[in-house]
Amino acid sequence: MSLPLWSIILAAGSGSRLGAERPKQYLALGGKPVFLHSLETFARFADPERLLLVHPSGDAALVESILASYPVIKPRLVEGGASRQASVAAALGAIEDEDAWVAVHDAARPLFKGEVLGAWREELEKMGERAALLPVLPVSDTLFGLDRGALVERIDRDRLSSVQTPQAFHIALLREAHAAAANRGEGEASDDGGLVLALGIQPRTVQGDPDNFKVTTAADLVRAESLLSAAGAPQAEHSPTGCYPARSPSLSGIGYDSHRFDRERPLILGGVTVESELGGLAGHSDADVLTHALMDALLGAAGLGDIGTHFSDTDPAYAGADSMVLLGRVRGLLSERGYVARNIDATVIAEKPRLAEVIPAMRATLAAALSLPVERVSVKATTNEGMGWIGRREGIAAMAIATLDPLS
Ligand code: CTP
Ligand code: MG
Repeated sequence: MSLPLWSIILAAGSGSRLGAERPKQYLALGGKPVFLHSLETFARFADPERLLLVHPSGDAALVESILASYPVIKPRLVEGGASRQASVAAALGAIEDEDAWVAVHDAARPLFKGEVLGAWREELEKMGERAALLPVLPVSDTLFGLDRGALVERIDRDRLSSVQTPQAFHIALLREAHAAAANRGEGEASDDGGLVLALGIQPRTVQGDPDNFKVTTAADLVRAESLLSAAGAPQAEHSPTGCYPARSPSLSGIGYDSHRFDRERPLILGGVTVESELGGLAGHSDADVLTHALMDALLGAAGLGDIGTHFSDTDPAYAGADSMVLLGRVRGLLSERGYVARNIDATVIAEKPRLAEVIPAMRATLAAALSLPVERVSVKATTNEGMGWIGRREGIAAMAIATLDPLS
C-alpha cells in the first residue's frame, strides 16, 4: 500500500508561554526561523511537493516574504485556526487526497530527525487504512497530581508516557477522528493521536527522541540553539527577512540632561534630596537631572526614544513628578520588550554642591529602583573647573550610560 505522504507543519500558534515579541515559530534558531527547520526536514525526508505550512491568520504575506529567502521549500500555505485542533482540521481540509498518509508535526519541535520517516512509512503501510503512529517517551520525573495548587497524590509514572510529534495517520482515519471530536463538541485537543484513540483505535507507538522536545519557554530555545551548535549548525548572528532574534545581544545607550538652578526648589539627584546653597533645579517634574540622564540612557539602549517621548513636559500629569516613579515606568517598558538593566554609569557635572558624601545614597536609591546590586550602579561627580555655564553655577548637567541584557 504505497501511498503519498502529506506533511502538515503546524505554525499557527501564538507562543504565549514563551512570551517573545513574535510567536515562537518566527524566532531565529541556528540562523533561520524556527518553523523553517521542520519544513526543511520534511522537504528532505518526506514528499517535498506535499508540504503544508499552517500559519496564523493574517500572516500569509509575512510567511511568504520569509519563504522567499528559501526558494527550494515550497509549502502550500494554510491559514490556521484558534486552536491547534482547528489548525489541523484546516490543513486536512486543504488536502484533496482521500487515500494518503499524513504526518502532523508541531513547528515548535524544530529538532525532529527526519531519517526515521522512511521506517515509519513502512509501519504505516503494514497497518493500512486504520494506521496511526505516535512517537512516545517514558516519563522520568516523579509526578504528583495537583488540586488547586496543592500536591495530592503521587502518580505512578509507569502508567504514563509523553507523546511527541510528528504523528502519522491514514488521512481518512484522521479526518474521521477530527469529525468525531467536532461532533462531541471538543475543539482543544493538543494532539491528534488522542482523537484517534477516542474512536477506539489503538495507535502504534514508536520510540520518541528526547531532542525532539517542544520549544515552549525561552530556556527551551536556548537548549535548542546549543544542541544545534553542538551539531555544527551556524549561529544566529544575522537576521534573515522576517526572522526575529530570540535572544537579542546586550544593548547600550547614552543619556544627557541639564537643568538651570532654581533657588525656590529642593535639589534632588538620583532620587536623593541634597543640601544645596544654590537651591534646586528648574523643570516640569522634580528636575532630577541625574535620573533623567539615566532614563534617557535606558530608553536609548532599547531604541525607545527619550523621556520626552514617554512623559511629555507639557503634560500636567507630570508636573512635579517624582523621577523615581518615572524610572520605575522605564524599567517596565524595558521588561515589556524583554530587557533588563545590567549596569549603569553616570557623571554629575556641578560646580556646587559637593556631592561625594551623598553619592552612596544615590547609588543605593538607583540600585533599588532598578533591582541591581549597588556595585553595578556607578555615580560620579565632577566640577567644570569654573568654565562655562556650569562653572558660573547656572545649572547642573548629568551624563549616563546604560547596558541592557535580554531577560532570560
Ligand atoms: N498551533 C497551531 N495553531 C494553534 C495553536 C497552536 O498551529 N491555534 C501549533 C503551534 O504553532 C505549535 C504547535 O501547534 O507549533 C504546538 O502548540 P504549542 O506548543 O502550544 O504552541 P503555541 O500555542 O504557539 O504556544 P502557547 O501554547 O505557549 O501559546
Ligand atoms: Mg498552545
